[in-house]
Amino acid sequence: MKLLEQKIRSNGQVLPGDVLKVDSFLNHQVDPELMSEVGKEFKRHFADAPVTKILTVESSGIAPAVFTGYEFKVPVVFARKHKSVTLKDDMYTSVVYSYTKKVSNHISIARKFLSADDSVLIIDDFLANGQAVEGLIDIINQAGAKLLGVGIVIEKTFQKGRQLLDKRDIPVYSLARIKAFENGQVVFTEEQEK
Ligand code: G4P
Ligand code: NA
Ligand code: NA
Repeated sequence: MKLLEQKIRSNGQVLPGDVLKVDSFLNHQVDPELMSEVGKEFKRHFADAPVTKILTVESSGIAPAVFTGYEFKVPVVFARKHKSVTLKDDMYTSVVYSYTKKVSNHISIARKFLSADDSVLIIDDFLANGQAVEGLIDIINQAGAKLLGVGIVIEKTFQKGRQLLDKRDIPVYSLARIKAFENGQVVFTEEQEK
């Protein structure tokens, strides 16, 4: 998605440890016009998928997920994060380890918001090691729901998340794919759908 790549080039900041800071339009301040285009692009790509629900994780996944849900006219559910777990009967829970932050979080979704009747599209802001998406897939499996695909705003192709999902034949569509950071600059992969 050209608009997004331009935004990353002009507003993104490459930090040590292969981290891209995008807090001016995605992770802290949010650009609604860009997010609206993000939602439309996910709708265009996954147009034929019979999506009944969008899932994401709080907090940075919520903006792109809501704009996507608006296009599909389906509800958006964000998993909540907790430091420690109090397993509750009315919640699905999974453990997510963050390699970036070196902490484990529990994520949970109320059972009443996800069932075996649901066909789910996962939307998230970043795909790095894929642990957040794996946690959501675990929850989708617990619910007996169907996973239709994963939509990612920014993918770092050199980290292992993409491979993990490809191995399991899960359709993944990323709007910006970063193959490397070189001298503080972002290098995108060549083949972009649009
Ligand atoms: P994963 O989400 O693919 O498993 O990756 P990882 O464990 O490495 O990432 C942990 C957190 O850091 C996630 O957010 C993820 O979105 C974010 N992240 C990973 N790489 C980058 C990056 O290059 N730039 C930025 N800005 N974020 C990155 P989170 O902890 O779930 O936080 P949030 O949703 O509350 O923001
Ligand atoms: Na995230
Ligand atoms: Na994040």
